[in-house]
Amino acid sequence: MIIAIDGPSGAGKSTVAKLISKTLNFEYIDTGAMYRALAYKAFKNSINICKENEDNINEMLKNTSVDYDNNCIYLDGENVNDKIRDEIISKMSSKISTIAYVRLKMVDLQRAIAKNKDVVMDGRDIGTAVFPNANYKFFITATVEKRAKRRYNELIKKGMDVCFDDVLSDIIKRDNNDTTREISPLQIADDAILIDTTEKDINDVVKEILNHVLNGGKNVL
Ligand code: DC
Repeated sequence: MIIAIDGPSGAGKSTVAKLISKTLNFEYIDTGAMYRALAYKAFKNSINICKENEDNINEMLKNTSVDYDNNCIYLDGENVNDKIRDEIISKMSSKISTIAYVRLKMVDLQRAIAKNKDVVMDGRDIGTAVFPNANYKFFITATVEKRAKRRYNELIKKGMDVCFDDVLSDIIKRDNNDTTREISPLQIADDAILIDTTEKDINDVVKEILNHVLNGGKNVL
């Protein structure tokens, strides 16, 4: 079974997807981590992500292995979970994910990783491009201010010195990259269930999704 969870940055997708996968004993696959791993490699190799550099990026990709296993992201065999969450990597991953060849490779990989498994997969294009026939599709969103506030609180909690307006403008830029790119832009699949988490507690969102998956949307939890 495939449960697809798409939506913009900071909507709470990964928290929700992790909790659902745990409850259902499904595998969780964070596709954003895959784009982040590639961005991290480009960063380490000082490869600037821009149109003029696409050949270099494609060349890098030919010599790169990415894998996602047991909640961990592997880049060329190394677990890079702790190295891909910096703001610079967030920005670079949003840019690298607009490149056609990159998307082609990642989508193939995502399909291969999910083969013969029950998975909860989160991302931007899971219900529209990776698994258009997914058993369940959810699109999780929230206002841009609320998403920025959540991200800001997370960063402050980590002890980082950030300003709310910068976080907000980064989210707006990433939304813009994600929704306007030519290939598989972020959009709601026709048959996805839309959940706005602006005023909702994350546990209520999880319940809502589980009610759909376990009982066709009726309140059983
Ligand atoms: O979900 P995230 O913030 O970790 O994702 C990082 C970037 O990767 C995001 O800006 C858009 C891109 N992405 C994508 O294009 N397609 C996906 N399925 C997942 C992420």
